[in-house]
Amino acid sequence: MSVMWRSALRTCRRGTGSLKNTRAEWRGVRGCHGTGTPIAPAFPAGSVSALEAMELWTRCFEEGDVAEPDHSTRYITAHVLGAKTIESIQQERLTEHLSCEKAKQLWELCSRRLSRVPVQYVIEEWDFRDLTLKMRAPVFIPRPETEELVELVLADLQARRGSGTAAEAQHRCLEVGCGSGAISLSLLESFPQLRAVAVDRSEEAVALTRENARRLGLQDRLDVHHLDVMEDAETLLCLSRSISVVVSNPPYLFSEDMALLEPEILRFEDHSALDGGADGLRVIRQILTLAPRILPIHGRVYLEVDPRHPQLIHQWVKERGSELRYVETRRDISGSPRFCILQRKS
Ligand SMILES: C[S@@+](CC[C@H](N)C(=O)[O-])C[C@H]1O[C@@H](n2cnc3c(N)ncnc32)[C@H](O)[C@@H]1O
Repeated sequence: MSVMWRSALRTCRRGTGSLKNTRAEWRGVRGCHGTGTPIAPAFPAGSVSALEAMELWTRCFEEGDVAEPDHSTRYITAHVLGAKTIESIQQERLTEHLSCEKAKQLWELCSRRLSRVPVQYVIEEWDFRDLTLKMRAPVFIPRPETEELVELVLADLQARRGSGTAAEAQHRCLEVGCGSGAISLSLLESFPQLRAVAVDRSEEAVALTRENARRLGLQDRLDVHHLDVMEDAETLLCLSRSISVVVSNPPYLFSEDMALLEPEILRFEDHSALDGGADGLRVIRQILTLAPRILPIHGRVYLEVDPRHPQLIHQWVKERGSELRYVETRRDISGSPRFCILQRKS
């Protein structure tokens, strides 16, 4: 069993943090079912400081088998105090009494976390590279690996800008399955010459991507469409004029692995954002089938995949006599083969 999927919380809000997928984490995946409903600490009769509240809630999360109890408390408390991290708050603010309003908010948000709502949905925002994105269930929460996918695409775009013609420098990117907009918005933010088309089958995802684009002032360079690539291929092809890059973090879990996910993911995130069918390749195959009709010669496809996929994808394009050439596999920070790069043949 080599499922590599996990909650997005194992990272600091800023930067990529640890991506290690340890055995202990997987114990967390399976070991916390059926422990009964955990009980929230009583709302304090007297006053309470942020530090005291954090201690109470961390213990409660530990007893309730909530993943990453300490991180959860810290993010929620920081959010209630109007900060991103506890470290950025002065010590005096953490030891002074919380106002009744703040204490109530803290209890309400921590109670949601205790019922396993992912912390990103609890605080309704999360950082992805340099951006702070709005988060809303059930839209997929961006994972740290995907920041590496963006870096990969950016490095290639920069290299091609350096060596190409002015026309080549005007890249237009297509993202399949935009979720909260993390990939497209991050690319647009870092590459001012870029324009993007982003599609998703989920209406909630489309709405959230549009909202995040507006909040970040990137809406003029991004077209977002509600579209299912499995069903609306012809519409996608019409929307995909002058595209030189296709990027996607598609649903890529093998269906049989879905049951092993943490309760946070299973209960609150959209399953169709995760489940890639029996071999995890359902949406990937469709992207690779359509890509040669979308891309110009030498145009590229960048995919985030399960570590079992690069070999299968390589074999698939070869056997099919695809107009795509498999360029290379890149590993993520934990050493897993995670990203596939393909290119339209000349
Ligand atoms: C793993 S999530 C990635 C979201 C976002 N790109 C990110 O990295 O945070 C996959 C996304 O693909 C979308 N999706 C799944 N199947 C799709 C399909 N057939 N057509 C279009 N979008 C699809 C899901 O709704 C989800 O938003």
